[in-house]
Amino acid sequence: MSTLPPDPLASGPLANGLCAGEPRSNGPLARGSFPPQPLASEAIRLQLRTWPEVESYLEHCKGVIVPLGSTEQHGPTGAIGTDALTAEAVALEVGRRSGVLVTPAQAFGMAEHHLGFAGTVSLQPATLLAVLHDVVLSLARHGFERIYVINGHGGNIATSRAAFTQAYGSAAARGLPVAAGLRCRLANWFTAAPVMHLARELYGDREGQHATPSEIALTLHLEPSMEAAQRPLPQAAAAGPIHGPEDFRRRHPDGRMGSDPYLARSEHGARFLDTAATALVEDLRGFLSESLGQ
Ligand code: NI
Repeated sequence: MSTLPPDPLASGPLANGLCAGEPRSNGPLARGSFPPQPLASEAIRLQLRTWPEVESYLEHCKGVIVPLGSTEQHGPTGAIGTDALTAEAVALEVGRRSGVLVTPAQAFGMAEHHLGFAGTVSLQPATLLAVLHDVVLSLARHGFERIYVINGHGGNIATSRAAFTQAYGSAAARGLPVAAGLRCRLANWFTAAPVMHLARELYGDREGQHATPSEIALTLHLEPSMEAAQRPLPQAAAAGPIHGPEDFRRRHPDGRMGSDPYLARSEHGARFLDTAATALVEDLRGFLSESLGQ
């Protein structure tokens, strides 16, 4: 038996959500207010929708969220999947609050500099560029015009931007109907101003730059089993230039950069999730409402 509303994408709560609005030709891409209550995750996960439901969704919303993470070491006490777990959690929360569909997470990112530590799985920049390019082009082919990538890893930023540039060119070269209006935005949840403010308030300069207590706190909130791995650690070396995986491990033997993840608490993680989702929903609202001239 299905636990879903009969047709959540076409006539259910999504119709009152961020994307409910006038057709593309009559005004902004998306208008309206948020759903009165956050939706169930099932309603906004692309993986759990059927293609006719997605086709109906596209009649009133051209936006989609893509979570982008990384699978890499996060110090001796942090989960390898930290960047993917956090990006997906923030993306699903933004989706629940906005009614915008969320694709499966891209859990492998550009983590070449972390390969000196066991468990790290990295895509080379050119590979990640190709993956993101193909994801965008697939979505654009169906009529999605606003691709909102919620990213959990700083190492993905440069490559993601390059991928967007390439995707715009390919969409035009392939003559896709959405090419002129296609836009991609990279939203790094961990650099949203309210998130950075909260991290400073809770941890000061012990937030550091990698395996930070803020991201570890979010994983503790999402995966309580990670509590068992937490323990006090010696002061970590501050961040500096890195010239490859061996250099990283030499400068940062346990994988941390200036951070003290032992300060992380599960309840902090709940606050980071709420703070990030609040900030990104507002950013997404603006992104979906942009007209072509903006
Ligand atoms: Ni991270």
